[in-house]
Amino acid sequence: MFLRNCWYVAGWSDHFPEDALMARTIVGDPIVLYRKRDGGVVALEDRCCHRLAPLSRGRKEGDDLRCMYHGLKFAPSGKCIEIPCQDIIPSTAVVRSYPVVEQDCWVWLWMGDPALADRALIPGALNHDRPDWFMQTGHLAYDANYELINDNLLDLSHLSYVHENTLGRNSMSWRESRPKVTQIERGLRIRRWVVNQPAPGYLGLPPETRTDMWASYDYMVPGVFLLATQSFQPGTAAACGMQAPSSEPLWRVATSQAVTPITERQTVYYYSGCLERKRATEQNSREQIAAFEKAFAEDKAMIEAQQQVIARTADTRMLRLSSDGALNQFRRLMVGLIDAERPLEVAASAAAE
Ligand code: FES
Ligand SMILES: [Fe+2]
Repeated sequence: MFLRNCWYVAGWSDHFPEDALMARTIVGDPIVLYRKRDGGVVALEDRCCHRLAPLSRGRKEGDDLRCMYHGLKFAPSGKCIEIPCQDIIPSTAVVRSYPVVEQDCWVWLWMGDPALADRALIPGALNHDRPDWFMQTGHLAYDANYELINDNLLDLSHLSYVHENTLGRNSMSWRESRPKVTQIERGLRIRRWVVNQPAPGYLGLPPETRTDMWASYDYMVPGVFLLATQSFQPGTAAACGMQAPSSEPLWRVATSQAVTPITERQTVYYYSGCLERKRATEQNSREQIAAFEKAFAEDKAMIEAQQQVIARTADTRMLRLSSDGALNQFRRLMVGLIDAERPLEVAASAAAE
């Protein structure tokens, strides 16, 4: 089951060059995306209303898209505006058009009722495309259900195990830190001190460097992870009474990540790595994203293997532990929103009949 009335990341802005037609599948819907002459992105159902050929095999003509099977031409609204050798265009000659917003270097699509598309619901990525921050980007395809990836990002205690030699830095500091989880509008806020943690290798610091790190993230519907960390001298967490710090950190790191379901068994994961320019070099930034990608390959291996076990196992009940609090809360939030839009689906299908 997917939530439809929300924004999904369809890709990084540079995934959609001028003059290209890009095919995507999001929550099971085939979509073709292209840029208009003013740079704005159009997203249409990738299925011609005539004989169901993919419009992504078509041709861009100005701001319009022509199906290259029998030549129907569609406006960015999805309305057919030309049928070769036919003067009358039936009102049913239309393909679905999806609301699109380009924000923070991401192209966001609204997959539900267009009348409900509210750009204020797009989670704001952290420090993307800012002159005072380095930013590196990437994406990863998963053969796994999106919920397993949300679960993974909602319980960072896995850093001490899945990422034992990478992000976990051979330390139990993540496992031993207890996050505080609070509900926020359409998401959860998860904060903790990670005490006496080895510094990341990508900053080129002496290997014995340790810090107390304040890690705070918002996890937003439908699966957007917005993490900011601040690192301080060891002892800072205790000096703050384990509350949020107010002093200037030694350095800051930000990463924004988006989980986009393709089908029930396929997902794409988009991520950034951001470092403040005043405290890092471009080389540090490149090494940071390389470190992230090494770790994300570890997540992928574990989660895809987990997905295979789930697929083979008739009874997929899971044991609930106290460390699962955030992921269970987020699953409940998603189920509530998905259930709430079901009457809309029923009404929409009744109206269509
Ligand atoms: S299938 Fe598109 S014009 Fe015929
Ligand atoms: Fe991970």
